[in-house]
Amino acid sequence: MSDMLRRPAEQDHAVELEALAADDSPKPKGWALSPQAVVTYLLGGEAPNGAQISAKYVGDQRLIETAVATLATDRALLLLGVPGTAKSWVSEHLAAAVAGDSTMVIQCTAGTDENQIRYGWNYAQLLADGPSRSALVPTPLFRAMESGKLCRLEELTRMGSDVQDTLITVLSEKMLPIPELNDAVYAARGFNVIATANNRDKGVNELSSALKRRFNVVVLPLPDDMEQEIAIVSKRVSEMAQSLELPAPKNLVDEVRRVVAIFRELRGGETLDGKVAVKTPSSTLSTAEAIAVMIGGISQAAFFNGGALSSDGLSPNLLGAIVKDPVQDKAVLEEYLETVLKKRGDFADYYTTLSDLV
Ligand SMILES: Nc1ncnc2c1ncn2[C@@H]1O[C@H](COP(=O)(O)OP(=O)(O)O)[C@@H](O)[C@H]1O
Ligand SMILES: [Mg+2]
Repeated sequence: MSDMLRRPAEQDHAVELEALAADDSPKPKGWALSPQAVVTYLLGGEAPNGAQISAKYVGDQRLIETAVATLATDRALLLLGVPGTAKSWVSEHLAAAVAGDSTMVIQCTAGTDENQIRYGWNYAQLLADGPSRSALVPTPLFRAMESGKLCRLEELTRMGSDVQDTLITVLSEKMLPIPELNDAVYAARGFNVIATANNRDKGVNELSSALKRRFNVVVLPLPDDMEQEIAIVSKRVSEMAQSLELPAPKNLVDEVRRVVAIFRELRGGETLDGKVAVKTPSSTLSTAEAIAVMIGGISQAAFFNGGALSSDGLSPNLLGAIVKDPVQDKAVLEEYLETVLKKRGDFADYYTTLSDLV
């Protein structure tokens, strides 16, 4: 187990979940924790026995409360937002806290068909013995219904609308017919669905209005406050560096501050003081990408730079995050370097290394 590259949230945070389960406030049927304890698990705080609970999500408490409250009703939850706003992250932790199991996931793509949502067949057995319950191959949705747990649907709007609509019966009647066996699976108490979808995919395969009605939508925003974003990036980078067994450099927070400043200026279309307008690149420049840039830099520092984190190691990662379109984004970055960073003494090293690379 200890050699797993990444453990599911419920294993990683088993001690916290156990401490929170001791809470004696009422739990909805089929839930591992009370709704209040689920919110504490996500946002951090203290368990009834005094144990410290780390924050998983940094953001508005009301958003998380709405999400948790939704899961206790007969409506499903849809987390919406631009890429990198922690939709999948929140979905995993919600499933871990509510159901004690975050592993029932379906990644929706344009190629997802009904069999991947409902159930499939073991064809060898199907041909040998005909349709039977043991020849049926359950999907994560099927198993979540049977066991009264949460099923996570990642990037719901990527799959075709006809396939999405398979979910309507499941969500409204809480049952899944199996016509081949003249049978059905009825969802056990505790079953619900958490879907995520990307704002930027809007219009690709928009949810039908029938399906939309079955979801409560919670929009996860990009952090609007610079200090909050620095805190999120520093926290996640330290945690990830630890799990990758990379030493966290002493100047980590200073570099996070500079990288986040560059991200926010390019994303927001103006300098932080609001004085100079800046063109925005096609890239999202999300918090998640700032985290990835920092991790790339730390790895480079650890293996090739004696552990010293500097603009040398971070700039190639920054360039990769900013320039997604080799022509337009490159021009945007060049202009930003000349009109903004060149004049800023405390970014001189970034100006030099990025100008060399671009
Ligand atoms: N507000 C936040 N609080 C905590 N972590 C965040 C926040 N925003 C982004 N992250 C981090 O960003 C990373 C990527 O998030 P992810 O869930 O994959 O994004 P999405 O599914 O929205 O594209 C995660 O490691 C997560 O910890
Ligand atoms: Mg995601």
